[in-house]
Amino acid sequence: MSLKITQLVAHKSILLVLFLQSIALCLSLENDTLSAGVVIKDPETIVSAKQVHKLGFFSPPNTTNRYLGIFFASSEETVIWVANRDTPLRDSSGAVTLSRDGNLVVLDGTNQTVWSTNLTTSSVNPVVQILDTGNLILREEGSGDTLWESFSHPTDVMVQGMTLSQNVKTGKQVLLTAWKNASDPGMGSFTGGIDAMSGTVQLFTWNDGRPHWRSGPWNGQIFLGIKETLYGYLDAITQVNSDSAGNIFFSPPPIDGLVMWNSSGSAIRKAWNNMEKRWDVVAYPKNECDVYGKCGPFGSCSIMQSPVCSCLRGFEPANEDEWGRGNWTNGCRRRNQLRCGDDGFDRLRYMKVPDFAKPLPSRVQDECQTRCLGNCSCIAYAFDSYIGCMFWSNTLIDTQEFGSVGANLYIRLSASEFDSHKERKLYIIIGVAAGFACMSIMMFIAWWFIVKRKGSKSQDSSILEAGQMFTTDSTAIVLKNESKEVNIGDFPKFTFEILANATNQFHEDNLLGRGGFGPVYKGILANGKEIAVKRLSAESGQGMQEFMNEVIVISKLQHRNLVKLLGGCVEKEEKILIYEYMPNKSLDACLFDPTNPTKKLLDWYMRYSIIQGIGRGILYLHKDSRLRIIHRDLKPSNVLLDQDCNPKISDFGMARIFGGNEDHGRTARIVGTYGYMAPEYGMEGRFSEKSDVYSFGVLILEIIKGKKNTHYFNDELSLSLIGCAWKMWSEGDGLSFVEESIASRETEEEMVRCIQIGLLCVQGYPKDRPSIEMVLSMLSRDIVELAAPKQPVFAENGSTKDSNGSTHQNVYSSYELTHSVLDGR
Ligand SMILES: *[C@@H]1O[C@H](CO)[C@@H](O)[C@H](O)[C@H]1NC(C)=O
Ligand SMILES: *[C@@H]1O[C@H](CO)[C@@H](O)[C@H](O)[C@H]1NC(C)=O
Ligand SMILES: *[C@@H]1O[C@H](CO)[C@@H](O)[C@H](O)[C@H]1NC(C)=O
Ligand SMILES: *[C@@H]1O[C@H](CO)[C@@H](O)[C@H](O)[C@H]1NC(C)=O
Ligand SMILES: *[C@@H]1O[C@H](CO)[C@@H](O)[C@H](O)[C@H]1NC(C)=O
Ligand SMILES: *[C@@H]1O[C@H](CO)[C@@H](O)[C@H](O)[C@H]1NC(C)=O
Ligand SMILES: *[C@@H]1O[C@H](CO)[C@@H](O)[C@H](O)[C@H]1NC(C)=O
Ligand SMILES: *[C@@H]1O[C@H](CO)[C@@H](O)[C@H](O)[C@H]1NC(C)=O
Repeated sequence: MSLKITQLVAHKSILLVLFLQSIALCLSLENDTLSAGVVIKDPETIVSAKQVHKLGFFSPPNTTNRYLGIFFASSEETVIWVANRDTPLRDSSGAVTLSRDGNLVVLDGTNQTVWSTNLTTSSVNPVVQILDTGNLILREEGSGDTLWESFSHPTDVMVQGMTLSQNVKTGKQVLLTAWKNASDPGMGSFTGGIDAMSGTVQLFTWNDGRPHWRSGPWNGQIFLGIKETLYGYLDAITQVNSDSAGNIFFSPPPIDGLVMWNSSGSAIRKAWNNMEKRWDVVAYPKNECDVYGKCGPFGSCSIMQSPVCSCLRGFEPANEDEWGRGNWTNGCRRRNQLRCGDDGFDRLRYMKVPDFAKPLPSRVQDECQTRCLGNCSCIAYAFDSYIGCMFWSNTLIDTQEFGSVGANLYIRLSASEFDSHKERKLYIIIGVAAGFACMSIMMFIAWWFIVKRKGSKSQDSSILEAGQMFTTDSTAIVLKNESKEVNIGDFPKFTFEILANATNQFHEDNLLGRGGFGPVYKGILANGKEIAVKRLSAESGQGMQEFMNEVIVISKLQHRNLVKLLGGCVEKEEKILIYEYMPNKSLDACLFDPTNPTKKLLDWYMRYSIIQGIGRGILYLHKDSRLRIIHRDLKPSNVLLDQDCNPKISDFGMARIFGGNEDHGRTARIVGTYGYMAPEYGMEGRFSEKSDVYSFGVLILEIIKGKKNTHYFNDELSLSLIGCAWKMWSEGDGLSFVEESIASRETEEEMVRCIQIGLLCVQGYPKDRPSIEMVLSMLSRDIVELAAPKQPVFAENGSTKDSNGSTHQNVYSSYELTHSVLDGR
């Protein structure tokens, strides 16, 4: 009705509209203050000036109890403060008012006080006001002095302007206390706050006073034990400040959001995502290794291993039986006692440092070791460029292995720990040498007999004596390309004759496909074992270089999701590598060929696990192997599937190894396959880990769609695969992008999420793309809330005509021509 009238009037007189509107505004404007003598009865509320926060009574879900609280005016379920949390009102007869003695009080139906601000100083003319910040203040009207404020009496939520603190002189803490459960705001067992007494400043969750989670030391920039901040993913989660009275303050970061502890002990940071009108949520502990002291003293937790707990080097389980049973709380004990003067250090990389670090400012790392060695009670040290040295003395608890970021932790061990290893190594060497000698003698005798019988000249393959092809130092490998000799390291050597027989003289029928530097054949050894044989072809121009590259890279790597090298053959002009045979061939054969029987096996779960497997393989290349490797040519034909469809990345002919501090490279010779190449690589030759992430993103989308990126054009929409994914996802219809045969409402959420992850990977700017580590965290839901991807660069192409009338499709095909030598299989 009123709407209609307004509409009618609008045509006639703007003035009248303005008048009506101003009346409406007056009516909706509520008062933000409560003065003496005024009673606010349930369900009345007062609202802050800009309508951000409200004070009033509420009931949590599944209960009729009433509580006085502060919540967002827009969403009443986000309660940021509760007054009578432990003294609920049983019905809605409650009221809030200012008592005669100047306290803010909550009264029940019989005018009994159930909660009070408990001020002893009386005031003349008190008023209570709810501010837009969410702070409820009780102040003296005349002087304006604040007598009491809710920000100093927090419950379970911290918003902008609030702080958690500890006074390092008195030890006094301001803590948040979680609710008992979602229906009961009473004080639960979990509390959150900072601990500044033990040397460094750390954020803690306690359960009944016992540590439950720990952020690691604050180094002035970030918390060292929160992996995401180490990656720079979360803009520093917080700020830590101090004042002259010895108070250390922790405040939430300047974002539109809050930090809270929920009733099951998670420390949660919520940031309001205004673009998508939802909360972005991060919660700790994230996984079981984040739980304080999971592996006990001197244990170390790694979420990438199973079981997650292990003893630090030089330590053994304190209680072998319990440990074996998965009860790790007893931790580990030292195997060989320290002898003070005569000890060494074992370096652990990528660690969350243990609790109870004693900091000592220092600019140089060497100083830490000297000092630790000089103090017999020092059992470990670490260095952080902001903090300086950190030392540990009694125990090492809550140590975690992050796997790709984190501190170097140096553990003091008895010198005998290092000796025993040397001895063991020596025994192994002697054993191997003796065995080798025996074998040599036997082989010599056999050879002697054969020669005698055949009377023919024998061909000594002389591989074993071949010169060093590459030298290794800890960070880089130098390729000595000019050397004609190739050493394939410790891998078994095969003779050309054996391989020729196994592959039926490299017969066409045995051809599996073409790899980077040559054809790949299926072979069967005399013992029945199936192998894949990749032979350097004479006409491949860059072949030799790629062959060498592959040998270097793959001989250093070992991972479930990388193809395994079984051996090699280097005889005269022949250069051949032998791999494990993959009965399901490559991903593109299975995925893009509707007639391939394996395609039926590739249901959603299988595809999801293939995506994760490829991701783990890439993570290993980028972060976890001893070398840092950029593959540069990730595509479905370079992903092989074993009999269980476990993916294995292959073809390292174009991979690049990086030294310690390099993180990107540039090349004039752009290798790789168009359609999978990141724009900055394809156009400018710049490559980095993020260009592999781009290729992985394309792979993810192809696996979901079951179609090849470069061969996919939706005629109607004139979109590439990526563009199509972007369009459907951004229109909220992600499920339509999924290959029809696997699309299902049941798994829609996961599928759409996966498309979003793919789109995050194919963003135009490398810096926008997540690291592979983060992609995996997203896939495993360690990171729950995903960022919104930006529109990809290649969102539009296909047959849309550009100004010269040529089509982008043509551009694609010309690129494919240029790179066809490299685009095998
Ligand atoms: C709010 O209430 C106070 C007294 O309770 C009064 O002085 C003030 O004018 C009111 N403000 C509005 C906007 O109604
Ligand atoms: C409320 O109760 C319903 C039914 O018992 C339950 O499904 C729901 O999870 C409860 N909500 C909360 C917040 O406890
Ligand atoms: C509570 O106090 C108010 C105001 O002083 C009064 O009007 C009301 O009758 C009282 N209620 C009871 C149950 O005493
Ligand atoms: C106020 O004092 C009462 C009685 O001493 C106590 O039970 C209550 O918890 C106090 N309230 C607050 C908010 O401190
Ligand atoms: C919440 O806790 C209260 C008491 O602590 C208990 O009575 C109630 O059943 C709990 N509710 C739920 C949903 O767990
Ligand atoms: C607390 O938060 C964590 C992480 O978001 C969540 O898994 C858990 O279910 C929450 N607990 C409750 C009681 O809501
Ligand atoms: C773990 O071992 C400790 C000490 O041996 C024992 O007290 C505790 O009950 C065990 N915990 C479990 C879950 O078995
Ligand atoms: C050795 O380290 C312990 C523990 O960190 C410390 O208390 C002690 O003062 C140190 N001693 C010397 C001589 O530095």
